[in-house]
Amino acid sequence: MNTFSPPAVPLLELSGVEVRYPVGRDWLGRTKGQAHALNGIDLRLFSGETLGVLGESGCGKSTLAQVLMGLVEPVSGSLQGSARGERNIQIVFQDPQSSLDPRLPVWKLITEPLVVRGRSSSVELRALAERLAVQVGIRPEYLDRYPHQFSGGQRQRIAIARALSSDPDVIILDEPTSALDISVQAQILNLLAQLQRDRSLTFVLISHNVSVVRHLADRVAVMYLGQIVELGAAAEVLEQPSHPYTRLLLEAVPRLDQPLTGNAAAQRTELPGNRVLPTGCFFRDRCPQAGTGCERPQALLPGELAEVRCHRATGLTAPLRTSPAAV
Ligand SMILES: Nc1ncnc2c1ncn2[C@@H]1O[C@H](COP(=O)(O)OP(=O)(O)O)[C@@H](O)[C@H]1O
Ligand code: SF4
Ligand SMILES: [Mg+2]
Repeated sequence: MNTFSPPAVPLLELSGVEVRYPVGRDWLGRTKGQAHALNGIDLRLFSGETLGVLGESGCGKSTLAQVLMGLVEPVSGSLQGSARGERNIQIVFQDPQSSLDPRLPVWKLITEPLVVRGRSSSVELRALAERLAVQVGIRPEYLDRYPHQFSGGQRQRIAIARALSSDPDVIILDEPTSALDISVQAQILNLLAQLQRDRSLTFVLISHNVSVVRHLADRVAVMYLGQIVELGAAAEVLEQPSHPYTRLLLEAVPRLDQPLTGNAAAQRTELPGNRVLPTGCFFRDRCPQAGTGCERPQALLPGELAEVRCHRATGLTAPLRTSPAAV
């Protein structure tokens, strides 16, 4: 974890972003309902930081990435600085096997984002691919090979080189190590940390894995059911969590290589369905601290250490806003 002081003007800013997906169809092809994937995301991303986005599977992390990439349109809210606008935002996916075109040699895969942008001769592209290969730990003499000739970790290095090639403003890493063996995960995380230091990159690091986020993030946003429930400096959110959900999440995964036991295992149930959103605090059904006032919608409010979406969290300084518009 680094210490990071954000510059005043954010690169990206989301306000009240909501995304829904149609789900299920009847025999006439009409959709039966909708998944409420994002339910009011307020978030800013600053140049040079690594923002960790942490939460269980299904909480909306990849949807957030798609919104930043300009690939999914919010039903409400506003978004400044996405890939639809001026920004060059690249993404590295969990599974490089399926994200890299198997028919292209590696040097073409690495430089494809530049070709799409209509720049450079193939001599220049080849030279760039060689420089990037060295930076990510791929031997330049392997650049004429195809993705299937590499291991999973090497393919992820190739995907990272590809993301770097067009010198983007932001790189989104969506579960970048989840498909890899533990030993390889650490190598890829170290590579990302090194690249971040050397090139002052801005990362959005999405993961369900606390250790991965802890390894790289300057700030952390914890998501639950399409909302951010806690947002702050990584050291504070991960070492002194304020929101009951963050506390459970950290308690449930003290060590990745150990099975869950006792209370932590019992608490780690599925996310509630998102076709119909809960009323009041979204976390109420699972919250050990639930009580009076939790039946009201909760807003993300500044506390002593972090912003927290819970009126009972310790150290909250601002009063609870209860109007639905505040959520
Ligand atoms: N293309 C889609 N169509 C319908 N529902 C989707 C689609 N993509 C995601 N969802 C739903 O939106 C919610 C958030 O999913 P996602 O953003 O993939 O979460 P995460 O990346 O945190 O696992 C889930 O309920 C998921 O089932
Ligand atoms: S508002 Fe209530 S139910 Fe929600 S997290 Fe806080 S204590 Fe738990
Ligand atoms: Mg995902």
